[in-house]
Amino acid sequence: CGACTVLVDGEPARACLMLAAACDEREVTTIEGMAGDPIVARLRDSFHRRHAVQCGFCTPGMLIAARDLIRRRRAGSEAEIRLGLAGNLCRCTGYTNIVAAIAEAAAATPEGESR
Ligand code: FES
Repeated sequence: CGACTVLVDGEPARACLMLAAACDEREVTTIEGMAGDPIVARLRDSFHRRHAVQCGFCTPGMLIAARDLIRRRRAGSEAEIRLGLAGNLCRCTGYTNIVAAIAEAAAATPEGESR
């Protein structure tokens, strides 16, 4: 469902699909480890303002997936964002606000913060 998405060596990965041994000698970053990331900070703000969080179960995975889309400049349109979030499910079905929040954060992200 994508809720457990983390970064492994900087790339998004589903934690539930990885054996712990596969993470040996690799850097694993959860959303808690990204508190100082400017794109995540922008996403937290836009998720809050756009009411893109209902129960919050999907939110950590959504934030990490959205950050990756923005960094790769793959959040330029609603269709692109929806395609990029295809692996992240929101049980509360709050996709409209989630997509709007990501579009807002993407538009506010300077090009220098993307890859
Ligand atoms: Fe409840 Fe997405 S906010 S699952």
